[in-house]
Amino acid sequence: DKGIYPYYMLKEIDEQVVVAHTLAQYYFDEAGQIRNIDDKIIEAIKAADRLYIVAAGTSYHAGLVGKRYFEQWTGIPTEVHISSEFAYDQPLLSQHPFFIFLSQSGETADSREVLDNIVKQGFPSLTVANVMNSTLTREADFALPLLAGPEIAVASTKAYTAQIIVEAILAHAAGNSHVDLKNELAKAAVEMQVIIDQKAAFKTIAEEALRGHQSAFYIGRGLDAAVAVEAALKLKEISYIQTEGFAAGELKHGTISLIEEGTPVFALLTQSKTAGLVRGEIAQVAARGANTVIISGKSLAKKNDAFVLPDVNELLMPLLTVIPAQLIAYYATLDRNLDVDRPRNLAKSVTVQ
Ligand code: M6R
Repeated sequence: DKGIYPYYMLKEIDEQVVVAHTLAQYYFDEAGQIRNIDDKIIEAIKAADRLYIVAAGTSYHAGLVGKRYFEQWTGIPTEVHISSEFAYDQPLLSQHPFFIFLSQSGETADSREVLDNIVKQGFPSLTVANVMNSTLTREADFALPLLAGPEIAVASTKAYTAQIIVEAILAHAAGNSHVDLKNELAKAAVEMQVIIDQKAAFKTIAEEALRGHQSAFYIGRGLDAAVAVEAALKLKEISYIQTEGFAAGELKHGTISLIEEGTPVFALLTQSKTAGLVRGEIAQVAARGANTVIISGKSLAKKNDAFVLPDVNELLMPLLTVIPAQLIAYYATLDRNLDVDRPRNLAKSVTVQ
């Protein structure tokens, strides 16, 4: 039931904070120790010489973020693969791979095909899904729930943030990091709410930047590049504005030729290591007439940035950065009088290959 909401998507964006709290309660005890993750899962991850995250669409994008957690906290090299590619073009695998399937529905046919293939090859696997007792959770060796509650809108929102949180918890449990993750996630949840409470700002940003435009760009580096591809998918799939999301350093290798007077370029700027470089790239597109909309982290913000995000642990910034992107997509679509929840040509669960 949508309740007071005009669309499920808006309801589901709002629910992300509840999801974050639910996950923390489920996966951490009072003392901040991990619970409800079978030791065998942690042992299987630790025994792997390489992790393979396999998923589609938004779940794949959550994998791009999770890769950073696994590599940074467990030291295990981690690859992220699009399931429709992996299924028919399996890359050379390491000696002891461990597979992690990410899925909201647990029924995505492309991911099921990969799981089938790797089960036949005898490799261990874990599915992290929102729908438990789905094909992907049943057929993997292990399964963990996203606990995001039903996601009805075709555009995935709360499943993405839930996937990032579960990946962080898993990587933290299997690794040795000094980050007080329970506390850091709690802080992130508080700040997610702070951003959601300012949704009117994104209505204005979306209308001013996107009205009358048929193409847009999202750029960023590192974790911001990972969020940029998700942000672009969100905007294009419901508003039909052709949007490219990519690593900002790639601009000069071709895409910058598309920049014209007024082209909307959203820049995500939350990673201190590369903030200076991204500022340079923003200046380059602005000099060619782009209308730049900068969404920055508080400690990296400058006077004319369009929206300043509160600071949380930099690794967890994707949980915050994605919310403006979801809300901009939502309001740009409303502004075009389109059905936010049911974009043309798409199904919630893609059960064909
Ligand atoms: O159910 P899954 O997470 O496996 O679905 C994967 C994609 O089909 C899904 O994320 C899709 O890209 C969404 N419509 C994106 O908003």
